[in-house]
Amino acid sequence: MTILDTIRTRRTIKAFKPDPIPEQELNTWLEAASYAPNHRMNEPWELLLIGPETRAALNHKTDFGGAPLLIGVLSKPADNAMARDENIMAVSCYIQNFMLAAHEAGAGVFWSSLGASALGRKVLGVPEEHDVVAILAVGYPLEVPAAKPRTMVEDKITTLP
Ligand SMILES: Cc1cc2nc3c(=O)[nH]c(=O)nc-3n(C[C@H](O)[C@H](O)[C@H](O)COP(=O)(O)O)c2cc1C
Repeated sequence: MTILDTIRTRRTIKAFKPDPIPEQELNTWLEAASYAPNHRMNEPWELLLIGPETRAALNHKTDFGGAPLLIGVLSKPADNAMARDENIMAVSCYIQNFMLAAHEAGAGVFWSSLGASALGRKVLGVPEEHDVVAILAVGYPLEVPAAKPRTMVEDKITTLP
């Protein structure tokens, strides 16, 4: 796949096969994702591998589509609001890289916001100053939904003098 095909064909996956992701594959995607841009090279992402007890306590309505693996993605605290935003932006770049690497290898990801809820933070044991950017459900897709149409990019562009 070209990078453009990979970007365009990645979908949010909500139904997974039970087959586990080989550890070496997973580590390759996690490592490649860390080439994400990040201000001052502070690499603000922190990862939680979520075990069965924690997963059950999250009480997700579809149990994350049966994904064999859940990863919590946190953003490190910062000492001012702008730096905090930048950390979350960099973590989002990390996640997108991860999702594209997984997709290219035939796997799929569901980005859930559940971890950012009060319950999610408590269950994951997130320190007060950290942000939860995602819980990523990762596995091989059982179903791949059709792409939702996007707005013409021309409609998103404003040209400044
Ligand atoms: C920050 C963020 C949070 C998201 N949280 C959820 C979520 O909690 N539940 C959900 O069903 N999808 C969630 N999504 C996935 C979006 O619904 C999905 O990306 C969008 O519908 C476009 O579909 P696509 O990813 O297949 O192109 C989230 C995506 C992002 C970027």
